Amino acid sequence: MVEKMESAGLDEASFKSIAELAYKESGLQLVAEKMSMIQSRLRHRLKAVGIDTFPSYAQFVCSESGVSERREMISALTTNVSHFFREQHHFDILQDKILPAKIDYLRQGGRFRVWSAGCSNGQEAYSIVMATLDRYPEIAELDFRVLATDIDQKVVDFASKGVYPQRLLSGVSPDRLKKYFTECKNDSEPSFQAKSSIKSRVTFKELNLLSDWPMKRQMDVIFCRNVIIYFDAVTQNSLWPRFKNQLKPDGYLFLGHSERISDPDLAGFANQGPTTYRHKKAHEELAREENKCL
Ligand SMILES: C[S@@+](CC[C@H](N)C(=O)[O-])C[C@H]1O[C@@H](n2cnc3c(N)ncnc32)[C@H](O)[C@@H]1O
Repeated sequence: MVEKMESAGLDEASFKSIAELAYKESGLQLVAEKMSMIQSRLRHRLKAVGIDTFPSYAQFVCSESGVSERREMISALTTNVSHFFREQHHFDILQDKILPAKIDYLRQGGRFRVWSAGCSNGQEAYSIVMATLDRYPEIAELDFRVLATDIDQKVVDFASKGVYPQRLLSGVSPDRLKKYFTECKNDSEPSFQAKSSIKSRVTFKELNLLSDWPMKRQMDVIFCRNVIIYFDAVTQNSLWPRFKNQLKPDGYLFLGHSERISDPDLAGFANQGPTTYRHKKAHEELAREENKCL
């Protein structure tokens, strides 16, 4: 393994220092099996800062003067793949179960808050808004907002602009494209700008899930999908109670298709179908209510 790493350019000692740093800073677990991908992503960073060798880069990025490069390094190491309406079943639950249960509360002046945690380029956040407004157009006049956060400032900046080349819009139906986007005529590649009807509903912010969360109010729904897959069990388990505290007692947590809460009972969540979780207490109360009605 050592020989393989060295011949590929990224030596074992540098890999170890960089992996430790990435884990400490962001929870990302860099594994030796992904060495060639990690190396190629980091090569761009070496070039950008004018450093020739991986040992010098590792030394620099771990040093006090490497603070801003650390953010660039994490940005280079994160995987930002996302799609509009990815994992459609969560949007179905939002439209068919969550919103119908909340609409009267909203009509009476209540607020509805959704968090897209690890939002990448914003496709998830804008999909949440489109699904919500499609289900109840009147919500455009009510107190509904999405907070979308990511550790990577570059994707946050991209998402805030809300401009997508056509190739990234494959999950958006022609009807939705017409309703929620305007074509940008000047760009060389056909691209579309999110209209203010959806853009104004989302606040994009840089936020590391491992740091303190500044949000004071609880959420109705948290989408944290295809993010914790890059974390180890210790980091994942540290997040469940924090998500639970950040959710309203009847709130929902959605994870990505290959992610699970290993022991939902212990974490205080009830599993409500594939990658869908709810506060255990709310789930039990709901079951009692349903039994009463039988
Ligand atoms: C594969 S994307 C998922 C995007 C979207 N949630 C989806 O399912 O399509 C993973 C995102 O998680 C972000 N991420 C990774 N570690 C993070 C951390 N510690 N805090 C916040 N975001 C993080 C990455 O920057 C990346 O944009």
